[in-house]
Amino acid sequence: MATSTHAESGSPRRSAEWYAGSDRNAYIHRAWMRRGLPDNAFDGRPHIAIANSASDLTPCNAHLDEVMQSVKAGIFEAGGIPLNLPVVSLGETQVRPTAMLWRNMAAMATEEMIRANPIDGVVLLGGCDKTIPALLMAAASVDLPALVVPGGPMKTGTFQGVALGCGTDVWRLSEEVRAGTLSQEQFLKSESSMISSKGHCNTMGTASTMALVTEALGMSIPGLAGTSAVDSRLLESAHASGRLVVEMILAGRGPSSILTEASFHNAIVALAALGGSTNAVVHLLAIAGRLGIDLTLDDFDRIGSGVPLLVNLQPAGRFLVDDFQRAGGLLSVLREVRDLLDPSALTVTGRPLVEHLDSARVWDHDVIAARDQPLIPDAGIAVLRGNLAPGGAIIKPAAASPHLLTHRGRAVVFDTIEDMHARIDDPDLDVDESSVLVLRGCGPRGYPGMPEVANMPLPKKLLAQGVRDMVRVCDGRMSGTAYGTVVLHVTPEAAAGGALGIVETGDFIVLDVPNRRLVLDVPQEVLDRRTPNAATTAGYANPKRGWERLYVDHVMGADTGADLDFLQGSSGSKVSRESH
Ligand code: FES
Repeated sequence: MATSTHAESGSPRRSAEWYAGSDRNAYIHRAWMRRGLPDNAFDGRPHIAIANSASDLTPCNAHLDEVMQSVKAGIFEAGGIPLNLPVVSLGETQVRPTAMLWRNMAAMATEEMIRANPIDGVVLLGGCDKTIPALLMAAASVDLPALVVPGGPMKTGTFQGVALGCGTDVWRLSEEVRAGTLSQEQFLKSESSMISSKGHCNTMGTASTMALVTEALGMSIPGLAGTSAVDSRLLESAHASGRLVVEMILAGRGPSSILTEASFHNAIVALAALGGSTNAVVHLLAIAGRLGIDLTLDDFDRIGSGVPLLVNLQPAGRFLVDDFQRAGGLLSVLREVRDLLDPSALTVTGRPLVEHLDSARVWDHDVIAARDQPLIPDAGIAVLRGNLAPGGAIIKPAAASPHLLTHRGRAVVFDTIEDMHARIDDPDLDVDESSVLVLRGCGPRGYPGMPEVANMPLPKKLLAQGVRDMVRVCDGRMSGTAYGTVVLHVTPEAAAGGALGIVETGDFIVLDVPNRRLVLDVPQEVLDRRTPNAATTAGYANPKRGWERLYVDHVMGADTGADLDFLQGSSGSKVSRESH
């Protein structure tokens, strides 16, 4: 007969609510699960889900089944019962209209499956951009012991003797084709070199950023994030993660004891020192929202301000994640900025993050700069406000052109992404290098889903003149692998009544990053008379049914993480009713 406690701790297991006892319901729960499980599987030992986002349609995560096997071995070895739980997976380059539309759906579905099933803890396997954020949001709302095993970046591919940065070099090469400095034939030839192995993008894009920031939050084994998908140490760490989650369950160490204000502070410091993706802002805000932590956009500016950029990785820099790991990885970066970290923040190990930094060293200062010789002294993400973004907008100065950080230019407005594609290369488009390109209708509600389109391409005729950057303003996001003087996440978005919806071509826009200002330089009495025109509003999403309808009705602004309003906070792990 099943018992309700685990031999080591004597504490009742959540899974015992399903399996313990001799009544018909316990019989049913056990009997249907037996199929090869050992006879002692129901003696009170922890049952652990491996929330596995492996999918052939998420190519960056396709190898996670192999990682899952190592996690399973570690869990078994430590006395737990591992259970593979395939979860909604999102291939950044594959799903339309944008993977971000489905992040909250993946988070909601995973949350409910963690809560609904007889498990005591969960190991989260993610990689591609939205998968780790969705898994963390889910785990935070259930609050069972959880840790992340990131799938790791791919190895570096080369083309014509040069290392290719996955993602970043797609933008660079395609711009070279448009500028006429690379042939279409050579461009297509680079295609099979761009993705060189299993794993996610190997620049400091969103996937690498979120894996590293997750470790800085304390939610992965210290030293694991950034390990290549082809490195045998990934499987070693996956095995160790399996062992550790059992220990976490015995200790009752859940996300709410790790994800605190202190850990978000450390994540923001790490984000700045790494020069990480702007997408981390919206994901960290959403994760914090699940825990009731009052993290705001301004915290990114305040905490990140004065943090030096230490990591010379694409898209803003030169190297790739392979080089970053060789040079010492995240722990060596955090050791350089140790005095800026909150020493009270704990990790999945039960020990503070700072205690894991003692033996870290930087082995290559070309890749990871010393604290006293930073690449940029102040690398934080800047939060801009003004009549064009009263709720805030962000810019990553480290990825921008210094001469454009203070700029006043005439707006050239595009109502939709389709409008932009149709007109951007028109030889008659009235635009010059001082213009400010404005793209609206790309916020969470307007698109829907807030796609990565803010880094809009420059007009072909300006590229031909040698122009390589312009000020761009958008209510959407920017790919973490992109770069440029791009103001993004403008809030409120145009479709939610933001001033972006009434900007007219020819209006002057002022960008003043040092003073954190984004201003539509038009008299207020003129703005008061304006309303969005029919062409503008026609581009806003108005779905009739399904997830898109639910999303548009409930999604919040980018300034709070673009989660659904009813998903904020935690429901815990309790399920009050039996299934039969
Ligand atoms: Fe998956 Fe870049 S497309 S991480």
